[in-house]
Amino acid sequence: MKSHVLRPLWVVIAVIGLILTARYFVVPPDFGVYERGFMYGFHRKSNEKEWEAFKVKYRTKKYCQDCHPDKYDTIMSSKHHIIQCENCHGPAIDHPENPEKLQINKKRSLCIRCHTYLPYPTSQRAKIKGIDPKEHNTGMECVTCHNPHKPDMEGW
Ligand code: HEC
Ligand code: HEC
Ligand code: HEC
Ligand code: HEC
Repeated sequence: MKSHVLRPLWVVIAVIGLILTARYFVVPPDFGVYERGFMYGFHRKSNEKEWEAFKVKYRTKKYCQDCHPDKYDTIMSSKHHIIQCENCHGPAIDHPENPEKLQINKKRSLCIRCHTYLPYPTSQRAKIKGIDPKEHNTGMECVTCHNPHKPDMEGW
């Protein structure tokens, strides 16, 4: 049978064959292998183990509570209770073994990233009390006057 349909058909078959061959080499053998019969898990089974072994960089402030209870209690009763210790002190991944101490950053830039006044009423960021860093007590560290663990302004 000679037909103009046949030639493009061969091309299509060749392309499908090529894709299947490539898939064999490229897709890892445990991709989509899943306990529940033929249901596809769209990931490698062995990837689950890789993520279980993944070390989390940030520990969150519950982790600090046992060893720095004073800091924990102070901050939890302050307006900074919603931010994480590690937001200012960096990741505590293996602290206190390595590093033994976390960084103490007293630069204005630490506070300015959250406290520069932003005039965007629809942004949640605008709800954080803001100052103009070019006007507000320039040349001094913010922590000279504000306690980073209890910045509450009541009574000022
Ligand atoms: C298992 C106990 C332990 C845990 C948990 C722990 N720390 Fe520490 N931390 C220490 C020890 C010990 C030191 C070194 C001695 C010191 O300066 O108090 C230290 C030092 C520090 C310092 C430096 C203090 C200084 O004066 O230079 C900071 C900042 C700090 N830790 C923050 C944190 C934060 C934030 C967390 C939680 C994410 C945390 N630590 C969790 C034990 C701990
Ligand atoms: C808003 C940023 C910020 C947050 C959040 C924060 N800290 Fe600090 N922390 C600082 C700064 C700045 C200093 C240095 C203060 C100074 O020397 O005046 C400091 C100092 C410290 C010190 C050592 C100096 C001291 O006063 O004994 C420890 C320990 C510490 N912080 C632990 C914590 C822990 C634990 C948390 C969370 C419960 C936390 N910090 C949350 C900014 C922060
Ligand atoms: C010399 C002391 C001093 C220094 C340094 C200082 N402040 Fe203040 N800050 C004050 C005083 C006093 C007030 C309350 C009166 C006012 O609003 O000026 C205040 C108010 C604030 C407020 C509340 C504004 C409001 O709308 O209620 C924020 C936020 C603030 N400061 C952040 C900062 C930051 C961030 C830094 C560093 C970049 C800083 N401050 C440096 C003394 C200081
Ligand atoms: C990750 C964001 C973040 C960082 C970094 C941060 N703050 Fe805050 N700060 C907040 C939030 C959120 C509040 C609570 C909302 C509010 O009152 O503005 C707050 C509140 C405050 C207040 C107002 C307290 C009141 O009574 O209204 C002051 C002053 C303040 N922070 C100072 C500082 C200083 C000084 C630093 C740097 C050491 C700092 N903050 C770093 C997010 C941040």
